[in-house]
Amino acid sequence: MRARIGIAGLGTVGCGLLSIFGSGSRASCDPSRIIVKGVSARDRSRSRPVPIDGYDWYDDPVELATSPDTDIFVELMGGPEGQARASIEAALKAGKSVVTANKALIAAHGAGLAKLAEDNGAALRFEAAVAGGTPVVHGIGGGLAACRVTSLAGILNGTCNFVLDQMGQHGADYEQAVRDAQEAGFAEADPSLDVYGIDAAQKIAILAMLGFDKVVPGDAAYRVRGISSVQPKDLSFARRLRHAIKLIAEAREVPGGVALRVTPALVPEDHPFAAQQGAGNAVAVEADPLGRLLFTGPGAGAGATAAAVASDILDIARTGPKGPVFTIPIEEMEPMPLADGWALKDRYALRIEADQPEQVADAIRAALTGKGVDVTSFEVGRHEIDILTAEIDERTIFDVTSEMAAPDGLVTTVNYYPILAP
Ligand code: HSE
Repeated sequence: MRARIGIAGLGTVGCGLLSIFGSGSRASCDPSRIIVKGVSARDRSRSRPVPIDGYDWYDDPVELATSPDTDIFVELMGGPEGQARASIEAALKAGKSVVTANKALIAAHGAGLAKLAEDNGAALRFEAAVAGGTPVVHGIGGGLAACRVTSLAGILNGTCNFVLDQMGQHGADYEQAVRDAQEAGFAEADPSLDVYGIDAAQKIAILAMLGFDKVVPGDAAYRVRGISSVQPKDLSFARRLRHAIKLIAEAREVPGGVALRVTPALVPEDHPFAAQQGAGNAVAVEADPLGRLLFTGPGAGAGATAAAVASDILDIARTGPKGPVFTIPIEEMEPMPLADGWALKDRYALRIEADQPEQVADAIRAALTGKGVDVTSFEVGRHEIDILTAEIDERTIFDVTSEMAAPDGLVTTVNYYPILAP
């Protein structure tokens, strides 16, 4: 078992991988088995935490991807298009196996790339694309192959979890917490992909393809709401209810198909998701006949993500490029019947701020009941009204709360969150 690899992209994860496989690597990854032959990055002279002098340098990642000196191409540049896509396609067309951590690319073009890989007898592995070092891709794709998955839900973005944790537990300011996540190497180069829920949406689309054995089109639109509107007062509101706020990505089987959604949600304090701190990720799977399964572990950062990339490389070196890229051959995967994420039904918690809450309380209650919302708790405080509802779809909650926030200026803030079932 021996493989020569080329690595394109020497950022946080690329350097993490070099410290595993490169000179001075850990004994558990015997360097005589995996040989780093070539590397490529935007800037050769940039200061890095690991030396790169001992590897052949390639200005062009496509050239590295097709080099006869390498067996496996490792793409760690990121992004759904450009050099990442071009180099992976070039490698697969040349029959070379590919390992990537690129969730944007797999979510957008996974089906096309899987076809290219399977047609050319190459492997395409992407364990690190979802939940960093926590092996959910293998776990759901392979480990649950005999089960019928009915729902997937999880904390899939380490940055958002870190930011909510810093704000909720340590009273940190949102902007500062995002900067800290960037410094810790959790956030994307463009952190808006994290905080607006796009990164989590890409990851749940990938997990849904593995869990439901269906293709989620790269351009599918579903309900995605990030954490940028979560306020410190919402976190206190959640705490009063003995809940935490977490960014939850889910793929749920409902009549008519599978609904995908990303949203901040209230999670009961005793739910395992509530215990995830920092960049911790968690995925809960409901599958028949297994029941509920829970994966938890580190979801971002150099070591965790590089460990997942390294495992994929070792796996290919050990077994060769066998089997389909997803759970079944791509030609047998049908399109996912996508249901409307806005129609998912949950209980909701609403926090409404007003200068004089008692003045607007009756109108708010009437607006909710008028839209068929069953109010289970309605507390009028000095500056806000806290409301809990029975199960209702998000579209109705969105419509009724949008009208509340409108014109007369009496209501100053309206925020709502679905409440995760225990
Ligand atoms: N930006 C991502 C996150 C990195 O914070 O989860 C890991 O995919």
